[in-house]
Amino acid sequence: MDKIKLIVTTTFGLEAVAKKELIALGFENFIASDGKLEFDADVSDIPKLNIWLRSADRVLIKVKEFNAADFDALFDQTKDCPWHDWINVESKITVIGKSVKSTLQSVRANQSIVKKAIIKELQEKYNKENFPETGSEVVVQVSILKDIAQLTIDTTGVGLHKRGYRVDTGDVPIRENLAASLVLLSYWNKNKILIDPMCGSGTILIEAAMIGRNIAPGLNRKFVSEEWSAIDNKFWKEARKSAHNTIHPSGNLKIFGYDIDRKRIEGCKINAKNAGVENDIIFKRQDVNELKIDCENGMIISNPPYGIKMSRESDIHSIYDAINAVFKNMPGWAIYIITADKNFPKYFKRAKPDKVRKLYNGTIEVNYYQYR
Ligand SMILES: C[S@@+](CC[C@H](N)C(=O)[O-])C[C@H]1O[C@@H](n2cnc3c(N)ncnc32)[C@H](O)[C@@H]1O
Repeated sequence: MDKIKLIVTTTFGLEAVAKKELIALGFENFIASDGKLEFDADVSDIPKLNIWLRSADRVLIKVKEFNAADFDALFDQTKDCPWHDWINVESKITVIGKSVKSTLQSVRANQSIVKKAIIKELQEKYNKENFPETGSEVVVQVSILKDIAQLTIDTTGVGLHKRGYRVDTGDVPIRENLAASLVLLSYWNKNKILIDPMCGSGTILIEAAMIGRNIAPGLNRKFVSEEWSAIDNKFWKEARKSAHNTIHPSGNLKIFGYDIDRKRIEGCKINAKNAGVENDIIFKRQDVNELKIDCENGMIISNPPYGIKMSRESDIHSIYDAINAVFKNMPGWAIYIITADKNFPKYFKRAKPDKVRKLYNGTIEVNYYQYR
């Protein structure tokens, strides 16, 4: 197969983090739009990207983009694509869709037209009338924006944020790819002390430990396109083998996680073990009010409780006061706080944030306050 076009999708605000990761993996010449990065790649890159990307949501194959002002155009242009490159005679074909500000408003009708056109192309190519659809799933998306249709195939399946290590999630866990992005957006590196004093299920610290030891986030999970005959199994094996071979040994990281809830700390230990970083993080039950710092430099990355479900407002403010008290005379400590509470900077009086970045934890808008 010739070069293909891939689209890596991200949550709004994380495009630049994913782009940096893609550049580090050797890709270039991106077309960027909200939540999307498009670039040229080879089929063998699909395993590598799914296994290695920390900040992204999904890896999609871009099949075609065209003007679709009516159903005939949608059908003809869809039928004109080489679906047989990706779909075999047994594949289960699922078409999903969305339509924004477009003439073809009915998503259901669009999905049905696209499925018919795909089947027509396969019938002609395979010289076969019926397809049992009993095999592995191929999810095609038809997205139409202002009459421009984009056809993509999802190679990921369950979203990339699901690394598979998290058994205990606590009350309001942060997504794994957001946690990894927080670490990548900070100036943390494996030589620096890192503390999360309200670590919940330990996600931020586990992602940091995986970054510190160069453990690929998707190493121990499956992806939907692994089942496809279109991607030679050797590409998956090679990508996994090379990821295994580049893991750094344990024993050099200085990462600490605390939480007031003993159950969370037990969960953290299980999650860290599942991720293969149980020897890289020290977890301990501790109230943030008891936090004591006895070295001059280090970093905090944390996601304090917020919201009616979690605490009363006064409890939240006492947590902020505790952080402020510990760090107000500690200029060598960089503080990174992610919260939906816009009042946080009022309580952290050491300095003004160097940067405030608007991000999303799922659908919840949050701010990432960075005091370097
Ligand atoms: C929003 S959650 C953190 C979620 C975490 N980032 C994760 O991904 O699972 C906030 C955590 O703060 C903890 N917490 C609340 N009050 C605390 C206190 N005074 N000291 C330490 N931890 C506290 C809660 O038990 C909860 O696990």
